Amino acid sequence: MIAIPPSRETAPLEWLDDLRESSGVAWDESTSTWYVTRYDDVYALLGDPRLGAQVETWCPPGLTEEQRKTYWRVTEFVDLWPVFSDPPRHTGMRRLLLPLFTPAAVGRVVTALKESVAATSPGTPGDRLFEGVVRPALAAGLACLIDEPPETLAELADCATRILAVGPSETYDPRVGLDAENALDELTEHVAWRCEARRGVLASALGDAMAEGALDLQDATAVYAQLVTGALEPAAAAVARLLEAVTGPKGEAIDLTASLDAAVDEALRLATPFHLAMRRGLTDFTLHGHVIQAEARVVLVLVAANRDPRRFEDPLAFRLDRTGARHVVFGRGRHACLGAALTRHVMRELVVELTAGEVLKELPPLSAVWNVDFGGRFVHDMVVGGVCVTDRREGAGRRCG
Ligand code: HEM
Repeated sequence: MIAIPPSRETAPLEWLDDLRESSGVAWDESTSTWYVTRYDDVYALLGDPRLGAQVETWCPPGLTEEQRKTYWRVTEFVDLWPVFSDPPRHTGMRRLLLPLFTPAAVGRVVTALKESVAATSPGTPGDRLFEGVVRPALAAGLACLIDEPPETLAELADCATRILAVGPSETYDPRVGLDAENALDELTEHVAWRCEARRGVLASALGDAMAEGALDLQDATAVYAQLVTGALEPAAAAVARLLEAVTGPKGEAIDLTASLDAAVDEALRLATPFHLAMRRGLTDFTLHGHVIQAEARVVLVLVAANRDPRRFEDPLAFRLDRTGARHVVFGRGRHACLGAALTRHVMRELVVELTAGEVLKELPPLSAVWNVDFGGRFVHDMVVGGVCVTDRREGAGRRCG
């Protein structure tokens, strides 16, 4: 029988794992991109000043004048997000965001999360734990971080998702571009109003920076967009992976009382919600004999690194006894996730709260239904007893495991 190699569209994780095992560093002609997949290389390059984060974009051919305008407006906006910015602009934005993550701010997030669990858990059946208790608790906590009600956080996150749907130039769809532009208008209007009113830590910091001329409204909107996209869904994915392990659908039920911290990090590693860190060569350099040229697009594949058997023995197993390499789920270096400590704290507190309320006691095994694509893994829902719901009508990558 001839083995059919996994395709990047239908089996992205397997495709990336294959890339790691075959070459480690590979040039992909169809996307004009270098992919770096082995842990040691990804780890080193995340902290390497020869790579910048602002990736070049080019306009797809065949667009009308109107469509080109929309395309550039949306892609230039995405370039402003902190995660796609280089110094000195990036340094200023990062400094501005730091007050959001003080111990007092984190304390408020945890209080909101606990109140939400207390309000939603009584009467919610075990098989609705994720949608009925966990997701609302995460939303309440993270909404509190940016001083918005949870419903507004959801609306803003939806705007940011529609903006990001423009995707890479190779797959640009002008209709999606138009929707992205509308979403950008909605988000900008909201941010202008919030910054004007200076309500909350984030809006005050952004409003002050705008008044001083350090930022403009587009910059402030970019900061909001990054926060609302980068916070809720990845945290939900990591918690889902933790709940799978705690309830033990695959005979792996773990004892949390023994090492909650290790369990949180193992769930994060196995979830790795953002698969990729996008970079651009700032200068020519050589990597394992390959010349990476200045301006080349370089993708550091966090998910392949986190499953690299060279650094994580039996990489797909949920193990609490790992020592040595630290996962790169939050990136590292200049763009290291600002929400990393908060996410770990929130995951721990959520489990403690669910355990204290005996919500986790005698819970049936839960399995996540994942939405996996090339760029990431997010959780659609959690179902009981390892039942796998695969609904390909709404997207190619939905599956269990
Ligand atoms: C499981 C949850 C999370 C994961 C897996 C995650 C992952 C990441 C990764 C991989 C990066 C770096 C990307 C790169 O180097 O290109 C990043 C950056 C960032 N994350 Fe997170 N994140 C999570 C939660 C959060 C939360 C809760 C917040 C804030 C509320 C947050 C805010 C940020 C910000 C502001 C950056 C940009 C940092 C910079 O560019 O300087 N993240 N995150």
